[in-house]
Amino acid sequence: MPDTPLRFIGRVGLVTGAASGLGRDAALALAAEGARLVLFDRDAAGLAETAARCDGAQVVVGDVTSAADIDRAAAALDAIGPATLLVTAAGTLGPTRPLPEVTEAEFDQVFAVNVKGTWLALKAVLPRMAAAGGGAVVTIASGSGIVGNAVFPTYSASKGAVVLMTRSVATGHAMQGIRANTVCPGQIETPMLRGVFEQLGDRAAGVEAMFRAKNPSARFGEVHEVTTAVLFLLSDAASYINGAALPIDGGRLA
Ligand SMILES: NC(=O)c1ccc[n+]([C@@H]2O[C@H](COP(=O)([O-])OP(=O)(O)OC[C@H]3O[C@@H](n4cnc5c(N)ncnc54)[C@H](O)[C@@H]3O)[C@@H](O)[C@H]2O)c1
Repeated sequence: MPDTPLRFIGRVGLVTGAASGLGRDAALALAAEGARLVLFDRDAAGLAETAARCDGAQVVVGDVTSAADIDRAAAALDAIGPATLLVTAAGTLGPTRPLPEVTEAEFDQVFAVNVKGTWLALKAVLPRMAAAGGGAVVTIASGSGIVGNAVFPTYSASKGAVVLMTRSVATGHAMQGIRANTVCPGQIETPMLRGVFEQLGDRAAGVEAMFRAKNPSARFGEVHEVTTAVLFLLSDAASYINGAALPIDGGRLA
C-alpha cells in the first residue's frame, strides 16, 4: 500500500478549473486523500479526464463567470454533503500587452474570470461552509498578485484583487470557523504557462530567459509543488493559518 495520508476523508468540496493544470492536480490529490468533490470547468473533455481519475467525483460543466452555472455546482455539492472545502483554480491570463493597449473587452474578460469567478464560487460556498460549522478555502492567485507584472499587467491587477478578496474572507469569516488562504505561484509548468509563450510569439524566448534569470532557483515549478501547499493549507494541520498569501516560486519574490 502506498503511504498516502488520508486527511480529507468525509470532506466534501468544490474545485473550479479542475479540467487542467493546477486545479486538476489539486482535485486528484484531494480525491486520493478521501475528499468527495464537485469538479467544475468549462472544458467538458478535460473535466471528464479528471473525473475518470477522481473516485466518486461529480462533474459540472460551466463558466465561472455565470452565477447560474455556479448555482448548478452548488446544487451538486448539496447532493453529496456539507461543503467544507473550496479550491478556486479557474483563471485566465488575458492579454500580454501594456495597459493602454488592452481593449475594454479583454479587461472585462480577465476580471470576469479571475475576480468575479472567484467571488461567485465564494458566494456559493461560504454560506454552506458556515452552516456546516466551518471549512477551508484556497484560492489560486499568483506572484503577479503581489508584485506588478509588466508582461501581463491586466492579469496582475486581477490577481491582486484575488489576494485581497481572500484576505477579506479570512478576516470576515473566521468566526464561522472558515479559514481562507491564497497561493501565489510563480511560473509553473502548465498549459497556461505554455500559452503565455505561444502568445508572446517572437518575444517568447527572451521573456522565458528573463523569467528564469530572475528566479533564484533558475527553474520553473512543477504542478505537484503547488498542490502540496494547497492540500496543506486545506488540512487541519494549518488550523491557525488564515489569510496567508503564500508565494510558491523558488524564491522569486524573496
Ligand atoms: N501556471 C502558472 O505558471 C501559474 C502561475 C500563477 C498562477 N496561476 C493560476 O493558477 C490557476 C490555474 O492555472 P493553470 O496554470 O493550471 O492553467 P490551465 O490553463 O492549465 O487551467 C486553467 C483552467 O481554468 C479553466 N477556465 C478558464 N476560464 C474558465 C471559465 N470562464 N469558466 C470555467 N473554467 C475556466 C480552464 O478551462 C482550465 O481548465 C489560474 O488561476 C492561474 O492564473 C498559474
